[in-house]
Amino acid sequence: MSNKLQGVRGMNDLLPDEAERWEAFEEIVRDWLKSYGYRPIRTPIVEYTKLFSRGVGEHTDIVEKEMYSFEDRLNGEQLTMRPEGTASCVRSVIEHNLIFQNPQRLYYSGPMFRHERPQKGRYRQFHQVGVEALGFAGPDVDAEHIVMCRRLWDDLGLEDVSLELNSLGDASERAEHRQALIAYLERYQDQLDEDGRRRLHTNPLRVLDTKNPALQEIVEGAPRLLEYLGEESLKHFEAVQALLREAAVPYRINPRLVRGLDYYNRTVFEWTTTRLGAQATFCAGGRYDGLIEQLGGKAAPACGFAMGMERVMLMWQEGLDTGRLSSPDVYLVHQGDKAQPFAFRVGEEIRSAGFSAVFHCGGGSFKSQMKKADASGAAYAVIVGDDEAAAGKVSLKPLRDGGEQIAVTPEELVGLLADHLYGTDEQAG
Ligand code: HAM
Repeated sequence: MSNKLQGVRGMNDLLPDEAERWEAFEEIVRDWLKSYGYRPIRTPIVEYTKLFSRGVGEHTDIVEKEMYSFEDRLNGEQLTMRPEGTASCVRSVIEHNLIFQNPQRLYYSGPMFRHERPQKGRYRQFHQVGVEALGFAGPDVDAEHIVMCRRLWDDLGLEDVSLELNSLGDASERAEHRQALIAYLERYQDQLDEDGRRRLHTNPLRVLDTKNPALQEIVEGAPRLLEYLGEESLKHFEAVQALLREAAVPYRINPRLVRGLDYYNRTVFEWTTTRLGAQATFCAGGRYDGLIEQLGGKAAPACGFAMGMERVMLMWQEGLDTGRLSSPDVYLVHQGDKAQPFAFRVGEEIRSAGFSAVFHCGGGSFKSQMKKADASGAAYAVIVGDDEAAAGKVSLKPLRDGGEQIAVTPEELVGLLADHLYGTDEQAG
């Protein structure tokens, strides 16, 4: 009997209790984004594979081993289910010439796909809320992103969050540092692990990101990118920090913060917590001034970040209380051939008046239906028998704080619901 189908490993269902918490979270997030003037953009989940190999970087973990890529059976095109949102957003902005006149503050949210080993806080389908500011060169917008994150964590009541900050400088500074780093790492080639040796010439910065404790000493002694920053990059980095100090956002400079995607330059940051075990980073981003041009657009600066929604939801304890159980206003109980269509119509009238109503399906005695009405959490039962239907009336029974059952017409019913549920009365008009 084990032909029961299961969901794909690492891809989760959100059952109603959890999905309602997510909706509550999404509402908060939307208001927060609007309060900073960000506008939504929605791009497809599937893109051409080369968008990510070019955008995210040929030698990143994401492109080398984590993408869900496939060939379109009908025309042989190489397609990929997006592993992140920045490349898609930039592709769309270029394609539709969106920053031709004005810079854009944009956001998106939705599922992303990476073939990683699933564990707490790490999934193969996960969700991001991403924010991108395109066409802005100054350090003020880098700081805006960090400060707006801080506001959201405060609004959500998240505890135990810290901010790590670094600057990756500009392409030429990175190239110079890269040369020095390769020369340094080559001296330790024999001691590097397989990953390290493989990345030495392709992505030496990532060698510094190793979790291998045996390599920590080598990593410690490696030349630091911060020491290779030129005047402009340093000025930018200092200005971001000054704005953070001004906004009283504490941060720690982590010279080894390099990020797992290749498009970054200058400011990079990660928000971490000790509450999620190994998956400590719940939000991350930075500046990517070269990406628009690299993807075929007219050169323009940009920066952004994305939070992992699953990770934030694991941290949002208060959301457990604020998650609204969506109880209907009314549960419609009915019995009889005439009662059923009448109750069905009354249900529509209740909804037209702006209330929610659950129509009982599946028959059963009045008593068993009343039990269901009670269990639904509805504030009222509206009860219809054939007699009531013949008289064009329904019985309204309060289910929560006592009160008499009364017979009313459907018109009177919506008036009473308005009085009781919204507290309107005649005098108040
Ligand atoms: P990322 O660091 O790859 O950056 O991902 C951002 C966040 O998504 C991570 O900090 C984490 O919270 C979450 N995340 C990533 N992978 C998983 C996973 N397998 N399971 C659960 N959560 C995950 C980006 O994606 C960039 N596009 C961010 C950005 C936007 N940079 C500039 N603009």
